[in-house]
Amino acid sequence: MVKFLDLGLQPLANSYLKKKNLNRKEKKFKLEVAFNSKNYLVSIVNTVPKEKMFNNMYPYKSSESKTMQKSFKNLTKKIKQNFKTDFIIEIGSNDGIFLKNFNKQSVVGVEPCKNLAKLTKNINYTTYSEYWNIKLARKITKNKKADLIYSANTLSHIKNLNEIFKAINYSLSDKGILILEDPSLLKCIKNVAYDQFYCEHIYVFSTISLKNILNNFDLEIFDIQNLSTHGGSNRYFIKKKINKNFQIKNSVKNEVKKEIKFGLQKISTFKKFAKKVKKSKIKLLNIFKKLKKKKLNIIGYGATAKSCTILNYCKIGDKFIDYFYDTTSYKINRYLPGSKILIKKYKKLNKKNVDIVFLGAWNFKEEIFKKEKDFIKKGGKFIIHIPTPKII
Ligand code: TMP
Repeated sequence: MVKFLDLGLQPLANSYLKKKNLNRKEKKFKLEVAFNSKNYLVSIVNTVPKEKMFNNMYPYKSSESKTMQKSFKNLTKKIKQNFKTDFIIEIGSNDGIFLKNFNKQSVVGVEPCKNLAKLTKNINYTTYSEYWNIKLARKITKNKKADLIYSANTLSHIKNLNEIFKAINYSLSDKGILILEDPSLLKCIKNVAYDQFYCEHIYVFSTISLKNILNNFDLEIFDIQNLSTHGGSNRYFIKKKINKNFQIKNSVKNEVKKEIKFGLQKISTFKKFAKKVKKSKIKLLNIFKKLKKKKLNIIGYGATAKSCTILNYCKIGDKFIDYFYDTTSYKINRYLPGSKILIKKYKKLNKKNVDIVFLGAWNFKEEIFKKEKDFIKKGGKFIIHIPTPKII
């Protein structure tokens, strides 16, 4: 593994602080990113024990965003049209945003965050509040193997990929389909979206790295869909190699071609990326400094886990950003880890008390701009750091 990016000491991205704990020393870890030249996998170097991140206080709920709801609805339609759905397992079922589109008898959720698992258990969807592994796979598929296994924005959070894929291979029927969805490394590198790296995102997958991993488990990708969610993701349709029911589509070849052309198989690409990250930090800080000199009111919008990387790496605190707005009830009245900026309950942006808004949730830019069209009409501006820091 070759380290190519050092994002400094970082707190746990989703550990939002209560006021009474503001003076407590936060646990920090060294956030470094590395490239494996053998299988092309990009991962963070120092990982945090999973129990520290995925417990009964996980703040992120997928259903809070209209964009995500729409994305899951569209997928459900496609699944029902194309695949057998008598028995579905979802790994990382969060608040049920996907599960709820299927009937209760046909779907099982796996969600180790107890606060989230409770939400689907309460409406009678079978949900195992455990970590996905071979033991759990055996328990769930004792009598019947799965027709479909789905996992969105979850496998990139799990360190032991061997265990994961062993368990998937075991529980998937030979004719079954695995659908994975995770941020795309190509998009991340192209957009200088270095905030995709934080403690929970152990991996950011490229197609070429995922192909190499799947190969070890006799699995193969037969179709890929590019998605706009989470700043650019890929949805991979995967089958067992022995399953000849599905032909490998051109989308797979095309995606691999794009990645190779861009250089995702070469360390030099990642070194170049690291240089751009450094430049991006300087540029972003300069924007903040200039705006503050003019005494403008700057707030943040969307206290995302991604923002945690940006704010701590660039050393942006409450001298620059007065507070963040966020819609997630858990985050409200808490403080962002490290930077210790207060998070307030979301209110529609108003030009009277806000001049400029740092877009922490840049991955929901379209949804947010639609919601804040009045602010924009009245001359309200946003700071966005993707792909290069600027005011828009
Ligand atoms: P994510 O980037 O990790 O998906 O988190 C998105 C965060 O942004 C989440 O805390 C909710 C927040 N958010 C808002 O506050 N307002 C919005 O309109 C949207 C779309 C997200």
